Amino acid sequence: MGLIDMEALNLDISADADHAIVWQNNRLYLLDQRLLPEQERYIELQSCAETSAAITDMVVRGAPAIGITAAYGVVLAARAGYATSPADWRQLMRPDLVALGRSRPTAVNLRWAIERMEEVIRELPDGDPEAGLLAAAMRMHQEDVEANRRIGAIGARLLGAPTSVITHCNAGALATGGYGTALGVVRSAFSAGLIDRVYADETRPWFQGSRLTAWELSRAGIPVTVMTEGSAARRMSEGGVGWVVVGSDRIAANGDVVNKIGTYALAVVARYHGVRVMVAAPTSTIDMTVRRGSDIPIEVRSPEEVLNCGERRFGAPGVEAWNPVFDVTPAALVDVIVTERGAVHMPDAKKLAELMKT
Ligand code: MRU
Repeated sequence: MGLIDMEALNLDISADADHAIVWQNNRLYLLDQRLLPEQERYIELQSCAETSAAITDMVVRGAPAIGITAAYGVVLAARAGYATSPADWRQLMRPDLVALGRSRPTAVNLRWAIERMEEVIRELPDGDPEAGLLAAAMRMHQEDVEANRRIGAIGARLLGAPTSVITHCNAGALATGGYGTALGVVRSAFSAGLIDRVYADETRPWFQGSRLTAWELSRAGIPVTVMTEGSAARRMSEGGVGWVVVGSDRIAANGDVVNKIGTYALAVVARYHGVRVMVAAPTSTIDMTVRRGSDIPIEVRSPEEVLNCGERRFGAPGVEAWNPVFDVTPAALVDVIVTERGAVHMPDAKKLAELMKT
């Protein structure tokens, strides 16, 4: 797994920054998001095991991006299995797929993508599976970008009058196949003259807001101000913020929304101040197999991520830290869920079931 400078890949980079996941010359490259914004460097992944490790270690993050990366990881697993035994590649790749499915627990897009690839695996004829699986992974990648553009257009129309918005974590091009979900809404709304400014919560402990969201938006020429998440209530109380716009890692059948830790607090504060909450997510993020948010596994990561900041230790010696990285925002605090199939206002089980039938 080597680091490669961006120039060496000769990519066609657009302002959408839709280059977090790159398949080029039969190889998988991930922009190492841990190094942004200081360095734009890619990691080349040569196996499914390396792909699982890259997801666990946050080289790539964000629910749709995790799913798309996993789909390419399935291609690498099949390639290795077929090279070892053209007759038994399906069995040989099984342990790789199990490990891939466990690389992060909360974003349902991971399971969704692996299941879609497994369907393709079942239908493939005898012979080398790589071309068929690669076509499926690329289709998934492309469909995600198209879904985000639709989400952006639908969400932007709902904003109404020009306003400032608050976003949390990074639900942008970096977190998806490209364009972004919450930031897709922001991009579309900004083009339509509906966004004055985006306030990006810095998002402890990985700083996805200050490192990634602010990076993406400033490259796109969209006015962005970083603030600590503790500042959100103060910011809302001063006026001028019409919406909180966030993404999601998994939405339960009743409309409860799991997203980056701190989203729940933001939604409570928003309701108090009369600020509306929009959740922008593709239908691949909706998990109809879980009835409510409390049934969704919440990833708890190392205490060191909270006690340290980069190389420096901030926690007092010997103290403990609790580091759940997602929380559940009850459906009652969500004004609208925007998907590529349409918007669900005041979401509940009945409305989501109807959406998923379409
Ligand atoms: O821990 P992360 O960085 O993977 O968390 C990402 C988020 O919580 C995003 O808001 C969510 O995945 C939506 S991305 C379109």
